[in-house]
Amino acid sequence: MSDLGQALTFAAKLYGEHASVRYAGYLRRDPMARLELRPGQLNPYPIYTELRAQGSLTRTRNGHWVSTSHRVCDAVLRDRRFGVRLEDESPEFEASFLTRNPPDHTRLRRLALPAFSPKAVAGYQDRIERTVANLLDRAQSAGQFDLVAGFAAPLPIAVITDLLGIPDVDAAGFARYGAIIGSALDGVKSMRHVQQLIASSAAIQEIFANLFELRRSEPGDDIVSSLVAASPDRISAEEMRAMCVLLLVAGFETTVNLISNAVLALLGHDQQWQALCADPDGLASRAVEEVLRWDPPVQRNERIALQDLELEGHALRRGEKVITLIGAANRDPLVYPDPDTFDIMREHTASHLAFSSGIHYCLGQPLARLEATIALQELAARMPGLARDGRLIMRNATTIRGPLHLPVTVRPDKTTSRIITAGAQAPG
Ligand code: HEM
Repeated sequence: MSDLGQALTFAAKLYGEHASVRYAGYLRRDPMARLELRPGQLNPYPIYTELRAQGSLTRTRNGHWVSTSHRVCDAVLRDRRFGVRLEDESPEFEASFLTRNPPDHTRLRRLALPAFSPKAVAGYQDRIERTVANLLDRAQSAGQFDLVAGFAAPLPIAVITDLLGIPDVDAAGFARYGAIIGSALDGVKSMRHVQQLIASSAAIQEIFANLFELRRSEPGDDIVSSLVAASPDRISAEEMRAMCVLLLVAGFETTVNLISNAVLALLGHDQQWQALCADPDGLASRAVEEVLRWDPPVQRNERIALQDLELEGHALRRGEKVITLIGAANRDPLVYPDPDTFDIMREHTASHLAFSSGIHYCLGQPLARLEATIALQELAARMPGLARDGRLIMRNATTIRGPLHLPVTVRPDKTTSRIITAGAQAPG
């Protein structure tokens, strides 16, 4: 088929899907379709409650399955009878290990693992603290700023760019292309979006090709250098590129929402914000865990049955999908008492599924936890007078959840003096 033919077929399919979601959501009140419409994106939690009332595993309108149950989601994510794709499906491009089953998944994940070990991540602490301090210096001198653009987004971007060893000259382009590629996590929205994705992907491939060359001749203390040093029978050039793009996108599109969702939740629960400000070092990591449970940045994932099987009394056929609604499982009343209440003092009796479960359990979670904990510690210590100031705009997305803009102001009378920074301190 010609390029034009392909584009038209794709556009027809995309707009057909949009129309079908609208019909099912607005007219038939289908809960899964409503999760994709604006009111459901703004607040999916009441819809999860409706779905929960229908049982632990239910059929979707397009013949797949969905679960809101913590027990079932956890079990499916750990069950080796499920995978992330059918083996006879050949992907259109070389896939990263997020979308591969063992044994390839195991081989590739193992290569990336050392960079995210607890010891390696502890080594990034100084760099994260310095970046946080610099960003807060700038924000504090501005007084009023967008928490997302001014703080939550640049932090993970700086950290992952550094970990990958991206030279400074390429960093801005990386940030731009990475954000566009990351937006595909929530599906392709329009033909213009497709064009942007193709262009960004080509640009990023080129930057990586140059970077691989550079690190072959001048190795550094970064992930790319260790990947190019691995022998070709352990990782091909294509796989290496796919892995770097995965790390880039995972580093960009998730931690930003964890930090922003945390600030949004805390500023909406003044007593808890005050408690955190009174003891930032003691409570920041608890606050991070409760945000991960209560309003996780990744709301869902899915698995494909690799064989016919039985689950929760239902017969599933090979190839059928189970959508595991992480955001719902994290509020399962069978696991969490009073699940809709945001409470940073909550004792976590079961681990939330914000980072998934099983063999695809988030590789970057120690890094994300550390970044978010330092971010909250320093925000609370330096800006106890932080308050919302302007219109909150949430992302237009179903899988990824978080604010696009969160305007805040720093009330000058309440700022404190505890500063970890190297940089100059602007007047508060
Ligand atoms: C708050 C921040 C983050 C959240 C909520 C998050 C969430 C997740 C989830 C839910 C998965 C599993 C997807 C599935 O099971 O299908 C995942 C996988 C992954 N994440 Fe994260 N992530 C975060 C931060 C990061 C960071 C900072 C990195 C690295 C820089 C990272 C790297 C990865 C990788 C490489 C995988 C694939 C693991 C595998 O397939 O074995 N993530 N993440």
